[in-house]
Amino acid sequence: MSNNIHEEEVLGKAYDARLIKRLLPYARRHMGLVTGGAACMLLAGGVALLLPLIIREIINGPFTVLSLEGPDDAALDALGWLALGYFVLVAVQFVAQFGNGYWFQALGARAVFDLRKDVYTHIQRQPLKFFDHNPVGRLVTRVTSDVEAVGEVFASGLVQLVGDLLVVLGALAMMFFISPGLTSIVLGAMVAVGVISWVFKGRARNAFRDMRLKLASVNSFLNETIQGWRVTRIFSTEKRQARRFDERSSDYREATYRTVFNFAMFFPAVEIATTLALAALVWYGSRQILAHELDFGSFFAFFSYTQMMFNPIREMSEKYNVLQSAMASAERLFGILDTPNSITSPAAPRNPVIAGEIEFRNVWFAYEGENWVLKDVSFKVQAGTSLALVGATGSGKSTIISLVMRFYDVQKGQVLLDGIDVREMSLEHLRRAFALVLQDVFLFAGNVLDNIRLGEASISRERVQKAAEVVHADSFIRSLDKGLDAEVAERGVTFSAGQRQLLAFARALAFDPRILLLDEATSNIDSETEALIQDALARLMKGRTAIAVAHRLSTITASDQILVLHHGEIVERGSHGELLALGGRYSKLYRLQFGAEEAASASAPREAV
Ligand SMILES: Nc1ncnc2c1ncn2[C@@H]1O[C@H](COP(=O)(O)OP(=O)(O)O)[C@@H](O)[C@H]1O
Ligand SMILES: [Mg+2]
Repeated sequence: MSNNIHEEEVLGKAYDARLIKRLLPYARRHMGLVTGGAACMLLAGGVALLLPLIIREIINGPFTVLSLEGPDDAALDALGWLALGYFVLVAVQFVAQFGNGYWFQALGARAVFDLRKDVYTHIQRQPLKFFDHNPVGRLVTRVTSDVEAVGEVFASGLVQLVGDLLVVLGALAMMFFISPGLTSIVLGAMVAVGVISWVFKGRARNAFRDMRLKLASVNSFLNETIQGWRVTRIFSTEKRQARRFDERSSDYREATYRTVFNFAMFFPAVEIATTLALAALVWYGSRQILAHELDFGSFFAFFSYTQMMFNPIREMSEKYNVLQSAMASAERLFGILDTPNSITSPAAPRNPVIAGEIEFRNVWFAYEGENWVLKDVSFKVQAGTSLALVGATGSGKSTIISLVMRFYDVQKGQVLLDGIDVREMSLEHLRRAFALVLQDVFLFAGNVLDNIRLGEASISRERVQKAAEVVHADSFIRSLDKGLDAEVAERGVTFSAGQRQLLAFARALAFDPRILLLDEATSNIDSETEALIQDALARLMKGRTAIAVAHRLSTITASDQILVLHHGEIVERGSHGELLALGGRYSKLYRLQFGAEEAASASAPREAV
């Protein structure tokens, strides 16, 4: 509730020179459309201004002659020509309006396309930190509705508004030319309606806001008391609750009355103002005609111009709203486009062939401020060897994985790959050295084949097939009715966790990376698949550097090195045997996590830990 109110208040200017200036390039790329549309707009406006003049000629000329003096060949001829002229002008107007609408809409569509591409590309290049601060839903809104709203600036907003303004001014000039007296009556009426609307708008906005606040209060009271009915009953406070509910409810009723009153006042007030103005026009116009200061044709034309002036003014407020929300959207979009990307490739990257040695040298890292998630972490993984990260949830294991791939930059210390700081390599070269297998395997819409090679066309079908065989994913894939070409339904909901793991391994292997990063899933997997996964993992890790957040005993014991993390610090390191012998945190973790497992596999009764 309060959110909506807030959003409403945020809506600001309908015209922001700074934003318009930044949007202009999107129009400038399609100057042809702009010129064509603008020319048509001017033409349509000009023709519209001419039409009442022809009617005036008809009324003052042939129409007067024919009605006063009966049939007359010359008058009939003139009538025919004027009618033809009118028809031709209407036809021209039709074409011009079509061109105007079509070209500006086309401009809007192109601008939307370009803008969407820019925003999307920008979002894709953002470092992970950006996504921590921008929820996915919000980003999707940016790329869809916000971009669409900005497109309206081009399609029906700004230039059209200028066109409308020209028509209004043109009509006003014609009216003034016909009769300054009548024109001042119309202007007087406009001022009156303007004042009425202004007063009403202010009052209605306040009343409406008030009404919504009162309704919110009723709702939250209901929520609370109905959910807490048990307490109410136990303490017998129903009467007091009912009285409080009545109070809120009648507050809401009063607020509603105020809103309704405002609306009920507004339309009759405008009606009275316009009716009075019309009466004044007829009265004054008739007097002028009687005094031969005005002819009847001009009087008629004057009314047409009044119409012509009022229609765009009425539409202007609509267009104003469109522009207003477009500006708000543009503001948000440029907010995204202006987010600097802190994680970029250096100007002169060092991109040697990568052997796969990884080193953390006194690394300090925090996601926010000084909330250190890693504190002075140092370790080295020789090329081709493996490291297991062990520790409680939140100890910083996944963070280490993210830092190796430079998803974030460290605040102090260095992350080195083959002795080179990862910040000195190009991001592309760096990340190509890795395959990352996450706890949650993300599958895209598409078939199994493309989910394994991720659309990388250079990876052949045979290679995918081979990779799937090596990691034991082939028998499961063969069981699908179209094998590799089977469609993945809704992100793979029909696959089991184990099957998805195997697919992820196949994916990693198909890319044949120097280094494997693995964040093992903790979820339970049936023992048959578990055996497959263990073997697949061993094959996958063979000959590569591997860092694994390990939850599986087999992964941990098979590792060349184990690091035990606690609150972002390395508290123990060594091999499985060494750490067990140490009798510290690792051996405790080991007992907690795998004690029961071992006991079970030895078919002994479960120990309590
Ligand atoms: N994107 C993030 N933004 C802010 N804090 C985070 C983010 N990711 C993780 N953290 C915090 O960093 C700490 C370490 O997290 P993580 O490396 O995921 O631990 P682990 O993988 O060992 O469970 C936790 O306290 C976690 O809340
Ligand atoms: Mg984790």
